[in-house]
Amino acid sequence: MANVTVIGAQWGDEGKGKIVDWLASRADAVVRFQGGHNAGHTLVIDGETYKLSLLPSGIVSGTMSMIGNGVVLDPWALRDEVQKLEGQGVTITDDNLAVADNCPLILPLHRDLDGLRETAAGSGKIGTTGRGIGPAYEDKVGRRAIRVCDLAHLDDLEPQLDRLCAHHDALRAGFDQPPVDRAGLLAELREIAPFVMRFAQPVWKRLKKVRKAGAKILFEGAQGVLLDVDHGTYPFVTSSNTVSGTAASGSGLGPGSTGFVLGIVKAYTTRVGSGPFPTELEDEIGQTLGEKGHEFGVVTGRKRRVGWFDAVIVRQSCAISGVTGIALTKIDVLDGFETVKICTGYRLRNNVIDYLPSHAGDQQLVEPIYEEMPGWEESTAGARSYADLPANAIKYIQRVQELIETPVALVSTSPERDDTILVRDPFLD
Ligand code: IMP
Repeated sequence: MANVTVIGAQWGDEGKGKIVDWLASRADAVVRFQGGHNAGHTLVIDGETYKLSLLPSGIVSGTMSMIGNGVVLDPWALRDEVQKLEGQGVTITDDNLAVADNCPLILPLHRDLDGLRETAAGSGKIGTTGRGIGPAYEDKVGRRAIRVCDLAHLDDLEPQLDRLCAHHDALRAGFDQPPVDRAGLLAELREIAPFVMRFAQPVWKRLKKVRKAGAKILFEGAQGVLLDVDHGTYPFVTSSNTVSGTAASGSGLGPGSTGFVLGIVKAYTTRVGSGPFPTELEDEIGQTLGEKGHEFGVVTGRKRRVGWFDAVIVRQSCAISGVTGIALTKIDVLDGFETVKICTGYRLRNNVIDYLPSHAGDQQLVEPIYEEMPGWEESTAGARSYADLPANAIKYIQRVQELIETPVALVSTSPERDDTILVRDPFLD
């Protein structure tokens, strides 16, 4: 049986939560492989809304859920989220949740640094979620991170704290901040350690076992390809690789295990935070799309920037991530427009190009070239088959599919799990 890897093919917030939840209910294990609690996945099940940032979406449906080594883990955020879900009646034990013992930790000093840098950057800020994600990944590759497994050896932590604090104290001094409170940090780690250690284990080993038993594994990506630290709109990106290839390295299975790559694509475009956005609409149409689509961030509550569908970036994301098929979400938000536009290429210094260039200045300069299509008056909300869709909505979906050179596997027509048109089942492909 095939595995499925879900990734966002735009700037995040494509509606992954609903699709992942739907797939998770049919998977045997769900694994997060990158990012941290900067993600915001909303699930609506039987009228109840669950907001997840760190836990894999499978946790709500009781599917075995794992946090892989590629994730940066804030142990206090983990505890808060577990407690919040338990308050909503979700059972979370070491039977249905495993945390990789080689995950690097996000510490309060990472959050501090994230905030200090953003404040100092003023209008040049990245617009991060302020959760310490970037600084935690820096410490991981700088080989001075404290990891989940270290929580079982806190009496031996001094040499690691020396390395970590030497680095952070120098940075903090540059921002006129006092050195790290080492004793306080150690005390906080001692307090949280037993909670995290309940779930800690070598996730790669657990995955090897479930794979051998023929389990269906769902790899749950966070953010989107345009926020990838290599392939995104650098430097306005997150600090992890958000592409499908990370599913293997960020969980501990080989590249052959990622299976069907499902790219989640919103029927228009949104982004939160700063950075280039060629099809951004700062007019009334953008306002209407934002309001109809409830475009506010799950994690930060920030208003999302909104624009027409950009086929150039989605085609690029699908190629970079080897997307097998897409799930097109929020098509109902386009209901009621007289015409709808799709960006098919860019104009850059009098040249027409069919890709987003790497240079940040060029990314700001590109101008979208649009194709205009007739819209549809009828509602697509809640449609469960192509026969329920207006002809112009079908034409729009077909044109999207052609332009991004990738087939549509699913169309989502409302936040409810069952309001989905299934064209091709990723688990059966
Ligand atoms: P960071 O991941 O907090 O460092 O933020 C870096 C950039 O990624 C900012 O533009 C954030 O708004 C964006 N970002 C991070 N996580 C998400 C997400 O889950 N959805 C959408 N944007 C995100």
